[in-house]
Amino acid sequence: MFLARTDKRFFFLCLAASQFLFILFLYRRGVSSVFQGVFGARPQWDYSKTQDVYTNLSLFIPDPETVRTQYCPITSPILVGPLSIALTKAPNLKKIQLKNRYVTPGGYFSPRHCFGRYRTAVIIPHRNRESHLRTLLYYLHPFLQRQQLHYAIFVVHQAGNATFNRAKLLNIGVREALRYDDWDCLILHDVDLIPENDYNLYICDEYYPKHLSSAMDKFQYSLPYWTYFGGVSAVTPDQFMKMNGFPNTYWGWGGEDDDIAMRIRLSGMSMTRTPLSMGRYKMIPHDRDSGNEENSHRHNQLRSTRKMWRDDGMNSLDFRLLSREKTQLYTNITVDIGEAPVMPTEPSRWRLF
Ligand SMILES: *[C@@H]1O[C@H](CO)[C@@H](O)[C@H](O)[C@H]1NC(C)=O
Ligand SMILES: *[C@@H]1O[C@H](CO)[C@@H](O)[C@H](O)[C@H]1NC(C)=O
Ligand SMILES: *[C@@H]1O[C@H](CO)[C@@H](O)[C@H](O)[C@H]1NC(C)=O
Repeated sequence: MFLARTDKRFFFLCLAASQFLFILFLYRRGVSSVFQGVFGARPQWDYSKTQDVYTNLSLFIPDPETVRTQYCPITSPILVGPLSIALTKAPNLKKIQLKNRYVTPGGYFSPRHCFGRYRTAVIIPHRNRESHLRTLLYYLHPFLQRQQLHYAIFVVHQAGNATFNRAKLLNIGVREALRYDDWDCLILHDVDLIPENDYNLYICDEYYPKHLSSAMDKFQYSLPYWTYFGGVSAVTPDQFMKMNGFPNTYWGWGGEDDDIAMRIRLSGMSMTRTPLSMGRYKMIPHDRDSGNEENSHRHNQLRSTRKMWRDDGMNSLDFRLLSREKTQLYTNITVDIGEAPVMPTEPSRWRLF
């Protein structure tokens, strides 16, 4: 069957009228309110009004008579949004302990007023950054408690003087953390980044790896480039295994986060991200460490990620565990990860980007 000429004209008239009405509807409601309804976006945050990260945490301490009977509410009642962060002087461990009295050895915490819904492991690669670590612990413990998470903090400490290898330390952190608990979510966290908004929840996306540090002050609170995946991210153990973890072969500064972003795509996933208005982080200012020189091979390495990712990762992870210690505020996993192989230096004219 086909439409007669007059029917056709009537059809197009109706189409035009309905489009006109839809535009009118958007105009009246305001386009942004319609999209907010669809995507659940929040209004812009006012970062000139901040709250202390320890504010109202005491409301979560039940009197000893009552027993926990219920799951925690889905949204924590004490979240405040923008947090005050001062990076002048790192607090000492004693002070952090006194302010976090319900954290148990190994850096463990479980809500006391309700049953936590999410089990989150925070994994921090580390060497020679003790004062940054103390600053991070001072802010991160109350931050995670505000979110009513059942959590633990693991510091993966690279022993010796060989070149630093962030991604390999993260692989080790995941393998070790999974010995302790059945985590829903693994947060891979640089030691020098402090979250500025407690609505930036440290829980995973059900389907895809999630980039949490989408707006760092060092990049003027925006993304340095579209596929950026450095800083702080959240993956479930399943997502992590699906991409064969992270590469073990990036020694020194740079490249490994781009390799990770490629693995996500090559293993058939996409990347999700905390909205920029919420994914804000302050970076503790510092000089480049010795032992973490720029990785001059990274451009060549990134060209072979497609070939390498199935063979270089969790299935090829090799290291020597030197100690596991439960300190009051974190579990210290100290490892010998070997040394960077000697490779010919990449000629600079081949640097394409
Ligand atoms: C702290 O809790 C009290 C009592 O519930 C509430 O009135 C106050 O607004 C909260 N403070 C902040 C900064 O949210
Ligand atoms: C690492 O370097 C320091 C200072 O240069 C040196 O004292 C130490 O012996 C070295 N450690 C190892 C394991 O080589
Ligand atoms: C972790 O433990 C090792 C071995 O005891 C120690 O040398 C290192 O300083 C510790 N690191 C941290 C961050 O506590």
